[in-house]
Amino acid sequence: MQDSNVLIVWDSKWELGIPTIDVQHKHFVGLINSLYSCFKNFVSKEDVLPIIEDLVNYESIHFGTEEQYMLSTNYPEFEKHKAIHSNLKTDLLALIEKYKQGDSSDLMNLIDHLENWLVEHLITEDFRYKEHFLKANIK
Ligand SMILES: [Fe+2]
Ligand SMILES: [Fe+2]
Repeated sequence: MQDSNVLIVWDSKWELGIPTIDVQHKHFVGLINSLYSCFKNFVSKEDVLPIIEDLVNYESIHFGTEEQYMLSTNYPEFEKHKAIHSNLKTDLLALIEKYKQGDSSDLMNLIDHLENWLVEHLITEDFRYKEHFLKANIK
């Protein structure tokens, strides 16, 4: 039975076969689940905001990792993928500002955005670089 505090259970079909990146995506699942558990347990904004800050930092690290690999392997869709990352970051920051002024429903919107980000972006955009990275021997 699934724990009701868990929003996302890692699905092996999300694995790219590139360990550095798979580890980061999995770590993200953990962070999003922590946030969801805060939402479910009415954790105060004061205690939720540091977790959100970790998430923003980790997002930058993760996008940076992907973009570095794209640059070093001359990935043809680098600019496009980078622009999508940048939009995701902007949207996340806007949702955080909204939550800072708002309430737990804004926290749930933020969590929805992150879940969508993780699953949609991963299976649509990240999967596009999979073969290219594997051929370039990215691990
Ligand atoms: Fe990614
Ligand atoms: Fe990406």
